Amino acid sequence: MILVTGGAGFIGANFVLDWLARHDEPVVNLDKLTYAGNLETLASLQGDARHVFVQGDIGDSALVARLLAEHRPRAVVHFAAESHVDRSIHGAEDFIQTNILGTFRLLEAVRAHWSSLDGADKSAFRFLHVSTDEVYGSLAPDAPAFTETHTYEPNSPYSASKAASDHLVRAWHHTHGLPVLTTNCSNNYGPFHFPEKLIPLMIVNALAGKPLPVYGDGMQVRDWLYVKDHCSAIRRVLEAGRLGETYNVGGWNEKPNIEIVHIVCALLDELRPRADGASYSTQITHVTDRPGHDRRYAIDARKLEAELGWKPAETFETGIRKTVQWYLEHPGWVANVQSGAYRQWVQAQYGAA
Ligand code: NAD
Ligand code: DAU
Repeated sequence: MILVTGGAGFIGANFVLDWLARHDEPVVNLDKLTYAGNLETLASLQGDARHVFVQGDIGDSALVARLLAEHRPRAVVHFAAESHVDRSIHGAEDFIQTNILGTFRLLEAVRAHWSSLDGADKSAFRFLHVSTDEVYGSLAPDAPAFTETHTYEPNSPYSASKAASDHLVRAWHHTHGLPVLTTNCSNNYGPFHFPEKLIPLMIVNALAGKPLPVYGDGMQVRDWLYVKDHCSAIRRVLEAGRLGETYNVGGWNEKPNIEIVHIVCALLDELRPRADGASYSTQITHVTDRPGHDRRYAIDARKLEAELGWKPAETFETGIRKTVQWYLEHPGWVANVQSGAYRQWVQAQYGAA
């Protein structure tokens, strides 16, 4: 089996759902259930013995040691993190605690477990660290996309904390020989994305008749990847990645934010037209820019493509249509997130235990 951290969040939950849809290898899912963790996303796995959910902190060394000893996973896939840049600007403490200290404690617990393994179990073991393109900083408009050797120049408290975690993972490989793999991915989008992030926020605000807040001039560029393509990349790196290597993951889909918002509006105009016949784009408002806002990210994914034969399945056009349709078809999930009811979902579903 494998141990996944942060598997109740956006990407981790998509990863767990995809993993168990493809085969029967069980997953132990360790997640603290912060505001970003949503067990309702994993409701289809209720009663499925292949999914063992444990509410807990990656920084709880005793808990992690117990889980590793009890379940003896062949790999750890580490998603758990504080992930929202704007929150890191308002308060960085949780980012330092989880992304840096939590990753350090997880690495130490995993190292102790890995050291106790023998022979084939030891050589097959993997620790895959899921990271971000934001560690590389901001690109000039005409600069080439980030390769794996690009200098680390993190600009936000979030990206600085992720950069620190990447360095810890690297050091645990070089110093202790821990069999690690790191992936640095661009912006994900798709089902179950928490509506504090650009694309889901625009969809839910548009449908609610609220303003669509575009930071600054809206010309910041992000490189978008459908979440299921990120999951397939992680599976491929886990399967065949070279130890100690990092792999950039991206879909060659650079677009300015304002264009993304217009695409979302056009899809909603087509799939759920406003009662008054006006376009959702009339709800766009330009608001104060994010402090320290990175102007452009772009991922060069050629290493992953050439070495491991990975390719994304979705274009931006197919992926964004699926995403908008998913939100239209899951108003209950959205409503529970917006009302906060998702946080009581475990209790409502399973009763007070
Ligand atoms: P998310 O915020 O949606 O989910 C994070 C999950 O981690 C939540 O379920 C939360 O409860 C859990 N968690 C937080 N602190 C924890 C702790 N101390 N112990 C255990 N669990 C904890 O994040 P996401 O968007 O799914 O991102 C997952 C990973 O991928 C993160 O490491 C992030 O940096 C990275 N990443 C995200 C993107 C993106 O576009 N979302 C892109 C590249 C990389
Ligand atoms: O690049 C990968 C990163 O992508 C991940 O590491 C992060 O975890 C993830 O949150 C994401 O970070 P961003 O800051 O790029 O994502 P966000 O959705 O917050 O913002 C995307 C862009 O849209 C960014 O330029 C800021 C802008 N934006 C965002 C929001 C929430 C707006 O213009 N208005 C908004 O209301």
